[in-house]
Amino acid sequence: MRLSLTVNGERREADGVWEGESLLSALREHLELPGSKNACEQGECGSCSVYLDGELVCACLVLAAQAEGREVVTVEGLAGEGDLHEVQRAFVEAGAVQCGFCTPGLVVASHDLLARIASPSDAQIREALAGNLCRCTGYEKIVDAVRLAAGRLAAAPPAGAQPLPAEEPR
Ligand code: FES
Ligand code: FES
Repeated sequence: MRLSLTVNGERREADGVWEGESLLSALREHLELPGSKNACEQGECGSCSVYLDGELVCACLVLAAQAEGREVVTVEGLAGEGDLHEVQRAFVEAGAVQCGFCTPGLVVASHDLLARIASPSDAQIREALAGNLCRCTGYEKIVDAVRLAAGRLAAAPPAGAQPLPAEEPR
């Protein structure tokens, strides 16, 4: 089937997507967006986290067909072309990236958290990221990274970032 949707602000089409294919597979295999990772493909690890119409979802649990005509933002779309979002920069600087397999999902989930709660407590950070598994870091540096990003975003919101669809606070 042909899939038509908006990804990272651009209208995109992909041919040859099969009816049972996940959004994650369509992004990676048909739309040249390998940032979202396929670690478990069972909704357990969060490494495939993307926004679908502004809502954080596991792309491995969403059929590509369900995204038809809708708006997807992936980790590649969080910052302007060739730039890093403050959350991405903070993950690197805080040493929160080791093998990096969990990182795209954690970055998107952290981005979502900071869009809802500008200065989250450690408990709120841990709760928001509870669905994102990391086998390497022990999570301390990830929490450090989110704190670092929160402080910097509060001081200077990013220019040129990909705007997300309007969303009710939750
Ligand atoms: S790959 Fe989607 S939750 Fe693990
Ligand atoms: S850095 Fe390796 S799984 Fe998180």
